[in-house]
Amino acid sequence: MHINISPTKTEVAKNFSDYLEELIKENKTTHIALSGGSTPKVVFDYMSEHYKDVDWSTVHLYWGDERCVPPTDSESNYKMTVDHLLSKINIPKDNIHRVRGEDLPELEAGRYGKVLEEELPIVESIPQFDLVILGMGDDGHTASIFPHEIGLWDSTNNCEVAIHPDSGQRRITITGKLINNAKMVAFLVTGSSKAEKVRSIITKEEGHESYPASLVAPSSGELIWFLDEEAAAQIN
Ligand code: 6PG
Repeated sequence: MHINISPTKTEVAKNFSDYLEELIKENKTTHIALSGGSTPKVVFDYMSEHYKDVDWSTVHLYWGDERCVPPTDSESNYKMTVDHLLSKINIPKDNIHRVRGEDLPELEAGRYGKVLEEELPIVESIPQFDLVILGMGDDGHTASIFPHEIGLWDSTNNCEVAIHPDSGQRRITITGKLINNAKMVAFLVTGSSKAEKVRSIITKEEGHESYPASLVAPSSGELIWFLDEEAAAQIN
């Protein structure tokens, strides 16, 4: 596990963009699962503005989770990514594999699970991403696996339907077997509200196992936390 701490969100965005640019240069094709929420916005804006030479034609984009809303909805992770990245870069349409949040969740979880089987290399009989980007909620959730549904992590399916504990919003999420089968996993976590869970998970405090983010342990061993000083305040 590597921990990369930067003073500000913008410097997290810069360090992560450097890391991603390098990864894309190294690979003939790079399959990336994107995270949702608000933290990626800063990174996507930074990358699309300052990394004009990235050859996105070699990159295939997927989502680690999506809200069950239409792609035009302000809650849509796809829409967030279009607004902050896809509308500003040159990437072939066929390289964008979005979750159809507007469709029936159970059917879409099945369909998207098949898309991953078809598009990704299969390693240890599990689809393998080159990189899974994850955020973490204040409650220790990651992707859309929340503490009250932590059992979804061990699902034998590639994707599952999850329910947001407060809003009841339905979500489509990849499961633990895909996350831990990835060649690399990168957490993008910023802000003081995350510091307590970051400390608990990284220092393996008593009870940390109840946080889905603590189950992230890629068999490749390649796990990197990109944190700002606020999120790292209790481990620094
Ligand atoms: C989502 C996510 C989720 C997110 C965390 C952190 O769709 O909401 O993928 O796992 O990464 O909730 O969200 P913030 O970056 O907004 O704090």
